Amino acid sequence: RQKPAISMSLDPEKAVFPSRQQLFDFHGVSMIPIFTTNWENVQNFQARPDDILIATYPKAGTTWVSQILDLLYFGQTERQKTIPIFERVPFLEIAVPPLFSGKDLADKLPTTPRLIKTHFPVQFVPKSFWEQNCKIVYVARNAKDNMVSFFHFDRMNIAHPEPGDWSNYIHRFMEGKMVFGSWYDHVNGWWKKKQTYSNIHYMFYEDMIEDTEREIDKLCSFLSLSNSAEDKKMIAGGVQFDNMKKNEMTNYSTFSILDFKISPFMRKGKVADWKNHFTVAQNEVFDEDYKKKMKDPTLQFRTEI
Ligand code: A3P
Repeated sequence: RQKPAISMSLDPEKAVFPSRQQLFDFHGVSMIPIFTTNWENVQNFQARPDDILIATYPKAGTTWVSQILDLLYFGQTERQKTIPIFERVPFLEIAVPPLFSGKDLADKLPTTPRLIKTHFPVQFVPKSFWEQNCKIVYVARNAKDNMVSFFHFDRMNIAHPEPGDWSNYIHRFMEGKMVFGSWYDHVNGWWKKKQTYSNIHYMFYEDMIEDTEREIDKLCSFLSLSNSAEDKKMIAGGVQFDNMKKNEMTNYSTFSILDFKISPFMRKGKVADWKNHFTVAQNEVFDEDYKKKMKDPTLQFRTEI
C-alpha cells in the first residue's frame, strides 16, 4: 500500500505541529492555525472549470459524499483501493508547512475532474472557483447531530482545541466558537449564495440516510453524469456506513492526528443521536436560540430541529 502523504505522530515528542491549537478570530471566523497558515496560497488557488468543490461545515457528511463522488467519477479502481480519501479528495486549506498542504495535493491531483474538499464558510472560498463557475456540492446536517459529531471529533483530533465538558460545548457551539466558526453562519451563508450562484447543489445528511440512491440520482443530474442504474445502486450499497467504517481508505485510520483510542472517525452514522446527549433543559435553551438564528423565511431548511 502507498504510504499516506499525511502522516504525523500522535507522540507529543514527535508531533510536527502544536497539538490542541487554540481558536483565534480570523476575519470574523473562529479558526486554528493549520487552516489559516497557508491562507494566501489558498486564496490564489487556480481552480479549473471542471473542478468539483465539496463544501461542508465539519462533520456534516463530507467523507461520505466525497466517496460517492469519487466512485461516480472514477469507479472501483486501484486508486480507490490504495489511496485514502483525504488524498483522493484533498482538503484545500489544511497545511503543516513544510510537510504538506492540501493546496499542493490539489494542485498535483492527476484526476479529471479534481475533487476538492473545503470547510470554509462561503466568503473564504478562493475567487477562482466562482470565476470558473465550478460546480459545488454543499452538505448540511441537523445542527444538534452536527454538534454531537463535532464534540466527539474534537475529543479525538489532537490538532483541535479540547472540547471541554458537554454543557459548555453547547454554549460554544451556539456562540460559533468552533473550528470554522458558526454552524448557523455557515449553513445560512452557503444557502444565500445558492440563490445567486446556480452551480451549488445543496444537500442534506438526513436525506442521504433516508435514501442514498435517490440522493445519488440527484447528484448525477446536477453533475450531468450518466452512470447506469446498476452502477448507482452498487455505489449506494458500497458507501453504507458499515462498509465505509471497515474500509481503511475511507475510515481515516491512516490519518494519524486522530486518536482512535478516544473515538472512531466513523462513529455512529445516525440521525438523532443528539437525543442521547442533550438534557431536556439544554434542548430548550438550544431550540430557543435556534429559532432566533434561523428565522430567515427563505431558508427552507431540511434539517428542522
Ligand atoms: P457521527 O460522528 O455522527 O457518526 P465528516 O466526514 O464531515 O467529518 O462527517 C463525519 C460524520 O459523518 C460522522 O458522524 C460519520 O460517522 C458520518 N459518516 C461518514 N460516513 C458515513 C456513511 N457512509 N453513512 C452515514 N454516516 C457517515
